[in-house]
Amino acid sequence: MEWKPNRADKKAIYKQITEYMERGISSGDFPPNSVLPSERALAKELGVNRSTVVAAYEELQSAGLVERKKGSGTRVSTDIWGISHRRIPNWSRYVEQGSFLPNLPLVQRIRKEAQGNDLINLASGELSSDLFPIHHFQRFLSQQQFNGNLGYDHPQGNLTLRETISSHVKTYKNIDASPSSILITSGAQQALHLIVQCLLKPGDAVAIEDPSYCFSLPLFQSAGLRTFLLPVDQHGINPNDLIALHRKHRIRMVFLNPTYQNPTGTILHPARRKQILELSSEFGIPIIEDDPYSLTSFTGGIGSTLKSMDDNGNILYVSSLSKIVASGLRIGWIIGPQPVIERLADAKQQVDFGHSVFPQWIAEQFLGSDQFHSHIHMLQDQLKQKRDLMISSLSEFLDNKVEFMIPEGGIHMWCKLNGPINEYQLLEEAIKKGVVFVPGSIFGSKKGYVRFTFGRGETNLIQEGILRFADALKSME
Ligand SMILES: Cc1ncc(COP(=O)(O)O)c(C=O)c1O
Repeated sequence: MEWKPNRADKKAIYKQITEYMERGISSGDFPPNSVLPSERALAKELGVNRSTVVAAYEELQSAGLVERKKGSGTRVSTDIWGISHRRIPNWSRYVEQGSFLPNLPLVQRIRKEAQGNDLINLASGELSSDLFPIHHFQRFLSQQQFNGNLGYDHPQGNLTLRETISSHVKTYKNIDASPSSILITSGAQQALHLIVQCLLKPGDAVAIEDPSYCFSLPLFQSAGLRTFLLPVDQHGINPNDLIALHRKHRIRMVFLNPTYQNPTGTILHPARRKQILELSSEFGIPIIEDDPYSLTSFTGGIGSTLKSMDDNGNILYVSSLSKIVASGLRIGWIIGPQPVIERLADAKQQVDFGHSVFPQWIAEQFLGSDQFHSHIHMLQDQLKQKRDLMISSLSEFLDNKVEFMIPEGGIHMWCKLNGPINEYQLLEEAIKKGVVFVPGSIFGSKKGYVRFTFGRGETNLIQEGILRFADALKSME
C-alpha cells in the first residue's frame, strides 16, 4: 500500500484511514464482498496502533460500508449502492476494460527494471548512447537555421524529409519511392499500429513470424485479429508454411522482418524471398516488410529488400531511424501504394495531427548530410565489436550452457539455454544479480530461449552483464 496517513494533518489518523478506505471502496479498489486487511496487518502496514485501525473499521461498519464478523475479519458489504456518499468512478474497471490492451505484464516488468540505473540493460531493443550521433545533431542545431513551417504540416509528413527518404531508400535499399508514396510515422511501431487499425478488421487472420517482435505486441489482439504463426528457421520463414496457413485460414496480411530478424538475427533466404513475393501475387496477400535493421550489416553487403523486388505493389515497406540513428527521435516511415498511404496519413492526422516538425528537421539534416554515410560505417563497426564481445563473453562464462547462431547484423543475440529452465524465474534471479534480458517466450512459442541486445550494452559492461547472467543461471542449478 503506497498510501500512508499524514501525521502533520490536523485530521485524526483514524478518520484519514476511514476516508482512505471509503475512497477505495467507492472506486472499486476494494470491491464488494472482498476481505479487507486484518486490523493487525493494516496497523503494521500504516505504522499506527491497532486501536486506530479498529476505530476506522468501526466507523466504516456504522456507515454500512463493511461487515465485521468475529473470526472472518472485515469484508466490504455486498451492496454499497447509495451508501457511500462519494461517487468516484470505478477507475480500476475502466483501466481493465478499455479495448486497447496493455503491454504484457512481463514487458512492463522488464521496462520498469531497465529504467533503473543500477542494472546492466541487455533488454531494450535500441542502441547504447555512445552510438547516437549527438555531436552531429549539436552541430546542426548550432550552425543550421531552422526556418521551416511551425504550423500543422502535410499529413504525410514534411515534404523535404520525404524527398530525402526517397533518395535515401534509392541509395541504400534500391527502392524506388516517390515522396507522395511515403508516410512519416512515429517509429516503425506507429507504422504497424496504423496498418493494423486501418487496413484490417476484427476477425481477420494475419500471419506473423515465430518468434518475432510482433508476437510481443498486444496491438494485434486489441484490433481483434487472429494471429497465426510461421516458424522461423536459420533462413527465415518457410514459404510452404504460408501456403498451408493460407489454405486453412485465408490469411489477409503477412508481417515479416526479413533482415536481421528480431529476435533471431536471421536473414530470409533470397530464394524464399522470391517465392514469398510470388505467393503474395498469387494469393493477393499484402506483405508488411518491417526493415529497421538492414543497414546494420556487419559484412557491408545489404541484400535485396522485398520492396526492391516488388514490381506489383504487394509490399508495404516499413523502416525507421531507431536502430541506426536514435530511437528517441521517433522517426519511421511507410512506403506503399498512394491510396494506402493517403488512408494511413488520414488516420495519423486524426490521431496526432501529424508528426512533430523538429525531429523531422533533424532527421532530414542528418540523412541528407555527408556524415550519414560515415556514421553508418562507424555503427556497423561498433556493433560488430559489441557482438564479438558478447560472443566471447558467452563462451567464457556460459560455455556448454547456451547455443546461438552468430548474427551478421542487427543488435540482438538469440540464445538457446541447454537444459530445461524457467525463463521467468531466471529473469528474477538476473535482476537480483543486476542484469536484465528478455525471456524468449515473449517473442513466441519456443521455450528455453533468451534474447540479449548487444547493441544496447555499453561496451565496458557487456562482459559484466553476461557474467551476472551466468551467476543467475548458476544459482538456479
Ligand atoms: C522488428 C521491429 N519492428 C519495429 C520496431 C519498433 O521500432 P521503432 O518504433 O522504434 O522504430 C522494433 C523495435 O524493437 C523492431 O525490432
